[in-house]
Amino acid sequence: MAGIDLAAKTAFITGASRGIGRAIAIAYAEAGADVALVARDESALAEVRKEVEAAGRKAVVLTCDVTDRDRVHEVVSSAIGELGHIDIVVNNAGGTSFMAPFTDLRFSGWEKVMRLNVDSIVHVCQAIGPHLLERGTGSVINVASVAGLGGTPSLSPYGASKAAVISLTRSLAMEWGHKGVRVNALCPGWTATDLNRNLWENEDASKAMTANVPMQRWGRADEMAGPALWLGSDASSFVTGQAIVVDGGLTAA
Ligand SMILES: NC(=O)c1ccc[n+]([C@@H]2O[C@H](COP(=O)([O-])OP(=O)(O)OC[C@H]3O[C@@H](n4cnc5c(N)ncnc54)[C@H](OP(=O)(O)O)[C@@H]3O)[C@@H](O)[C@H]2O)c1
Repeated sequence: MAGIDLAAKTAFITGASRGIGRAIAIAYAEAGADVALVARDESALAEVRKEVEAAGRKAVVLTCDVTDRDRVHEVVSSAIGELGHIDIVVNNAGGTSFMAPFTDLRFSGWEKVMRLNVDSIVHVCQAIGPHLLERGTGSVINVASVAGLGGTPSLSPYGASKAAVISLTRSLAMEWGHKGVRVNALCPGWTATDLNRNLWENEDASKAMTANVPMQRWGRADEMAGPALWLGSDASSFVTGQAIVVDGGLTAA
């Protein structure tokens, strides 16, 4: 049986400068992969590169706003050039910077969230898909959210964007499966990162967020790395088109 080992593999990881993406990048390096680290903050990426190098692997820092289609195509070419090829793609960059009831929502806010969470994955998959298909192998992991599995009051653009990510994942899995390219979504539950610092740092808000979580706590970024490692590795070689939920039981009810 194939183990969870990324020796001789390479990964392209967006949003690798902090949070869940950083945790995945370091776990991948520790499992033997060379990595392309993609985000906007060059100095934060340089810090992650040091951690990857400490694990004995190569890291390529590529600054990129993932909503910029042309830049995404440039950095995909650079990553393939620097690493030789790409085996694993982790479309993790994303989030939302606001909450608003739907009637207060400005359309520009809706568009901003869709550009960041959905269009970015379209750009990366269009840029890198031909490379994966030509090689006849690859694992694409799109970071969605439990918010994409149900309704999310005051976060309607975010929830809709993550539901779109799950649907796009399934469509690509169906289009690319026969060519050996797997596509899955990873759906984190509430995970304490910079994205939601205002919630987990506030005692009342934090209690409210974890009240319905059977494990009664926030997830940690490194707890998303194990499932991402499994999805990226040959240990999940017959898994495609799935939304893998990692949420401390939140959606069990
Ligand atoms: N934390 C949670 O509870 C949770 C739950 C479900 C799903 N998720 C999803 O998990 C993913 C990672 O979230 P996180 O919690 O780790 O958030 P985070 O700590 O805020 O990190 C977000 C990452 O995305 C990058 N990023 C943001 N906008 C970008 C842009 N325009 N271009 C390139 N990179 C960009 C950031 O890097 P730069 O600022 O350096 O560009 C950073 O590396 C997101 O897709 C999020 O929706 C998170």
